[in-house]
Amino acid sequence: MRLVLVGPPGAGKGTQAQFLASHYSIPHISTGDIFRANLKEGTPLGIQAKEFMDRGEYVPDSVTNEMIRDRLDKDDLGNGFLLDGFPRNMTQAEVLRAILAEKRTPLSAVLELSLPKEEIILRLSGRRTCRNCGKVWHSEFEKPADPHKCDLCQGELYQREDDKEEVVTRRLEVYQEQTVPIIDFYRTEGLLITISATGSVSDITERAITALGRVH
Ligand code: AP5
Repeated sequence: MRLVLVGPPGAGKGTQAQFLASHYSIPHISTGDIFRANLKEGTPLGIQAKEFMDRGEYVPDSVTNEMIRDRLDKDDLGNGFLLDGFPRNMTQAEVLRAILAEKRTPLSAVLELSLPKEEIILRLSGRRTCRNCGKVWHSEFEKPADPHKCDLCQGELYQREDDKEEVVTRRLEVYQEQTVPIIDFYRTEGLLITISATGSVSDITERAITALGRVH
């Protein structure tokens, strides 16, 4: 299964990606997570990415494409992969196509998670992430016992800089301008599968697996 997961900020891509990656035994490759891990370690890549992420803008293609090319060269992709948050614009979609064509491993499907704007805002405003293990919680929908601590490792929970209201507005604009065109592109290519991302986490996972069952 060689899968791209696409959807607006807060649609639940990261949440669903964990379950889908485990179901298909494939690595979950999230460009957002790679940037945040680099930032945590204080690498030049992380510091460069932060400037764009904090404003709700996309990190320049030159940086992101190189990073993904390196990741797709690793030797753990025998069963496929799940790309979460890449590609996000037409240039990245073309680069991905070229990389996969070189390897003769075309995409199996592009899964779009669709969610109304009001729910996006609710999900992003309540998201809390563990500084230690990275587990994602929600102040209403997936509550830890203590609102400031991770149930799994007791790490401190924090709100992502880019989940602040003014940045969320910009992220939604950028998504509309740059990422929606790739959805149309993949629809034309016959690769797009759209599912509703409303409802419980397990219902959405089941919906996704049923929809993806048709491409296998
Ligand atoms: P990234 O981290 O990829 O952010 P995003 O695409 O905006 O997506 P999010 O992580 O915000 O949301 P999600 O859909 O994963 O939702 P989640 O599962 O957490 O990227 C961040 C930034 O990095 C970008 O803005 C950009 O700057 C840069 N970047 C990344 N990739 C790039 C690229 N290719 N090119 C250039 N720049 C790039 O869920 C959200 C919340 O909702 C959680 O609290 C969760 O618990 C809760 N939740 C999930 N599912 C449900 C449910 N069913 N019911 C109730 N609550 C739910």
